[in-house]
Amino acid sequence: MKYKAKYSQLVMPDNINVIGTLFGGQMISWMDLAAAKVTYRFLKGTKAVGAVTRAIEKVEFKEAVYKGEWVNFESTVVKAGKSSFQVQVDAYAEGREHDKRLACTALITMVAVVKDENGEYQKLDHGKTVD
Ligand SMILES: CC(C)(COP(=O)(O)OP(=O)(O)OC[C@H]1O[C@@H](n2cnc3c(N)ncnc32)[C@H](O)[C@@H]1OP(=O)(O)O)[C@@H](O)C(=O)NCCC(=O)NCCS
Repeated sequence: MKYKAKYSQLVMPDNINVIGTLFGGQMISWMDLAAAKVTYRFLKGTKAVGAVTRAIEKVEFKEAVYKGEWVNFESTVVKAGKSSFQVQVDAYAEGREHDKRLACTALITMVAVVKDENGEYQKLDHGKTVD
C-alpha cells in the first residue's frame, strides 16, 4: 500500500526571517508536521501510540518563500524498516506573485513507539510495509 498525506500552511508575518523570506527553521518544523500526518495514516491499526522523529536528512531549500504564500506539503512513506520508516516530504510554494514551485525537500526518519511501564517511550516493530 502507498501511504501519502497533504498538509498546507499560510506564511504569516511571524514566520519571516530578517531578509523577508520564510524562516528555514519554521519550514523544517512544518516539514516535520507533514511527516507526522502521513505517520498517523501509516501506523493506524498498529500497537504504536505514535512515532518520534529520529533523523531529518537531505534538507534542501530550493527556492525562497514569501509572506502571504501558501506552502503545500506532500508526504510519502518511501521505505519501511522494523521500527523505523522514511518519509519523503516535498514542499510546494504558491502565491499571487510567484508560480507554484518546489521550495523545500527532506527525508525524515520516524520511529514507531509505545510507552513502557515507567512511562518511557520505546521503539516498536510496526510490521508495516510499503510498495
Ligand atoms: C527513537 C528512539 C526511541 C529509538 O531508540 P533506540 O532503542 O535507541 O533505537 P535504535 O537506535 O535501535 O533505532 C531505532 C530505529 O531507528 C533507526 N535509526 C537509528 N539512528 C538513525 C539515524 N541516524 N538515521 C536514520 N535511522 C536511524 C535504526 O536503524 C532503527 O531502525 P529499524 O528498527 O527500522 O531497524 C530514541 O532514539 C529516541 O527517543 N530518540 C529521540 C526522539 C525525539 O525526541 N525526537 C524529537 C521529538 S519527536
